Amino acid sequence: MTTSILVATEPAYEVRIGRGILDDVAAAVANHTTAAVITDTRVAELYRSALVDTDGFATCVLPPGEETKSLAYLERVLSFLACAGLDRGGCVITLGGGVIGDLGGLAAALYMRGIAFHSCPTSLLAQLDASVGGKTAVNLPEGKNLAGAFHQPTAVSADTAVLATLEDEEWRSGLGEMLKTALVGGERALAALEEGAPALRERSGEGLEELISSCVAIKARVVADDPGELAGRQVLNLGHSFGHAIERVAGFGSIPHGIAVAAGIGLALECSRRTGLLSDSTLPERAARLAGELGLPGDLEALRARTGLPLASSELAESMLLDKKGRRGVPRLVLVRGPGELVCGVEMNPSLLAEVLA
Ligand SMILES: NC(=O)c1ccc[n+]([C@@H]2O[C@H](COP(=O)([O-])OP(=O)(O)OC[C@H]3O[C@@H](n4cnc5c(N)ncnc54)[C@H](O)[C@@H]3O)[C@@H](O)[C@H]2O)c1
Repeated sequence: MTTSILVATEPAYEVRIGRGILDDVAAAVANHTTAAVITDTRVAELYRSALVDTDGFATCVLPPGEETKSLAYLERVLSFLACAGLDRGGCVITLGGGVIGDLGGLAAALYMRGIAFHSCPTSLLAQLDASVGGKTAVNLPEGKNLAGAFHQPTAVSADTAVLATLEDEEWRSGLGEMLKTALVGGERALAALEEGAPALRERSGEGLEELISSCVAIKARVVADDPGELAGRQVLNLGHSFGHAIERVAGFGSIPHGIAVAAGIGLALECSRRTGLLSDSTLPERAARLAGELGLPGDLEALRARTGLPLASSELAESMLLDKKGRRGVPRLVLVRGPGELVCGVEMNPSLLAEVLA
């Protein structure tokens, strides 16, 4: 069964979720003058035959991992598009996880001042979150996603059959963003995730497409209301200011994004409690229990124990000052009142922040 969700941005586009839909991508891009694929070596090794070999697209194969999301690789991709002869009617097909989607999407945003891109997310995280909403970016040494653009894809094809080959840690990384999306979505989404947690942990596949579709629908609703992240869309950054600081201090790529975000959600809930914003007092414990059931760290201590990394509080606090959401050197966080009730742009008192990060 294929589910289709419309993201009502300007322009609008369709996200299709289902098994085997990579086979339809060549037909979907046939109206473009040319198309070229951006992917990574791991995904190319597994899924080249499904898309690239059969359809003869020019292909740029990059090393896998967060370090590829850099200005150096962005330049390489732009040169590849020029050498492959893409014109303004051309289309970039991104085939990979969030790294390839973010990098390839940014290349499409910049090449000839913007050409089409068709996103084929292959990781759980990219299928339920990163491929929707048009945020594209690369990292700078100073921080995550510091150079980027909003550029909506022309379509998203999320083939759930490919998720079977994801490493367990990458699978759990996707579950971290699923936890965030459920908290953003509200009580019903959170309860559905709690119900689905055992099957997700076992990777049995039961209920998976419904849960991915539900996350995409929640994100589609939020981004359609605020495509440029001027206000409401900021709720999607729950756990991310902490998560990005954790990723930077650990060294980009050493902790999968969604796992850092899961610990970040625990920290955001603790800040919500300490600032008196939290109205559902059971939520931190409930979220931590659910994180544990999904095989995720529910707080910083659990992440430190899991990774063996010190993740020093002073370094984390310093790193948070570089966050894009901060103003005048004061971190601004997304905090929580209850499921589906988030508060954006809360300026955190630095000493309270230091206590939470201790
Ligand atoms: N644009 C957005 O809105 C948004 C939202 C969330 C996260 N992100 C970004 O997404 C990135 C993380 O994405 P990710 O977790 O997908 O990481 P990733 O792209 O690095 O993929 C993780 C690993 O899984 C491998 N992989 C991907 N699909 C596979 C498959 N089907 N089978 C086997 N291996 C596979 C990749 O080769 C890679 O080694 C971060 O850079 C983050 O900032 C962007």
